[in-house]
Amino acid sequence: MAAAPLLAIHDYRLVFDGFEGTAHVLDGIDLELGAAETLGVVGETGCGKSVLAKSVLRLLPSPPARVVAGSIRFEGVDILAANDRAMRAIRGPRVAMIFQDPATFLNPVFTIGQQLLDVIAAHEREKPKAERRARAAMRAHAVSLLQQVRLPDAEALMGRYPHQLSGGMRQRVLIAMALSGAPALLIADEPTTALDVTIQAQVLRLIADLVRDLGLAVMMISHDLGVVASTCRRVVVMYSGTIVEDAPIARIFAQARHPYTKGLLAAIPTLAGSAAKLSGIAGSIPNLIAPPPGCRFHPRCPLAVERCRAEKPALRDFGGGHRVACHRAEES
Ligand SMILES: Nc1ncnc2c1ncn2[C@@H]1O[C@H](COP(=O)(O)OP(=O)(O)OP(=O)(O)O)[C@@H](O)[C@H]1O
Ligand SMILES: [Mg+2]
Repeated sequence: MAAAPLLAIHDYRLVFDGFEGTAHVLDGIDLELGAAETLGVVGETGCGKSVLAKSVLRLLPSPPARVVAGSIRFEGVDILAANDRAMRAIRGPRVAMIFQDPATFLNPVFTIGQQLLDVIAAHEREKPKAERRARAAMRAHAVSLLQQVRLPDAEALMGRYPHQLSGGMRQRVLIAMALSGAPALLIADEPTTALDVTIQAQVLRLIADLVRDLGLAVMMISHDLGVVASTCRRVVVMYSGTIVEDAPIARIFAQARHPYTKGLLAAIPTLAGSAAKLSGIAGSIPNLIAPPPGCRFHPRCPLAVERCRAEKPALRDFGGGHRVACHRAEES
């Protein structure tokens, strides 16, 4: 990547200290994301997708979370060392996040308008006094945000309560809130999993359009390669706290090299690929307190040899933006 990337994560290792031991949840994540780049993050449940996303915004409670090694930089700011004030200027204004279940992030006792204005006002407070907007300007901004996420009758919606909206409408409100600063990066953690399939497609379309029109970078987290393929140009495949493969979407479908990625692709039904869940690989997810030595995937891998049990494979560059962490990547 040429200029300094928007987001740069290097050798990031994070554990959770628990009653039963220390869980090695992220084990040496190396990932860079450029401005306006669209990246999907896929992998089965518990592989660390949400923990990775929350790490970028330092949203994990510590304890139990503990960073053991590595660095995270966003727009040059050292996230792991930033003070609370610096984090407030990043979290929301520069990096916005939307989550799976919109209902839990809206307060049932306040109107949509009040909640949207609260978020906008919080961003204003981060600005110098002379630059802060008046209430009327903030309200006009709120209405325009609701229009931008294609909610009909935005004026009337300002006075409605969350329970008066459908799930898809609530998720659009949260996207409007996410856009209320001037984010350079949108992190979407399973943003459509809780929605019906048709609504899901509409919300994904909306996110893809907004990201393109506003020139945002996006990190789209999903179980579902189809969801990622519809919104992103590049995908990172995670397995048990590690990145096993990173490639442009088309390359993943045509020339995946990691046996885990191949297993995921084989698990996608030929019809309606977007409904596929990443669960078709035999064996179970490794225990994070005593993870397998060497490559964490080796107990489930059809190609595993002695070296895979002994030595952790590095993410190696195969050209064309394709990286693979597998000792046997050449053979496949
Ligand atoms: N606050 C926490 N305390 C202790 N362990 C945690 C905490 N949050 C996550 N974990 C553990 O970290 C691991 C990764 O969790 P994470 O939520 O990132 O998975 P995920 O890939 O997002 O899964 P899913 O697809 O189900 O959302 C899991 O083993 C989980 O139990
Ligand atoms: Mg998750």
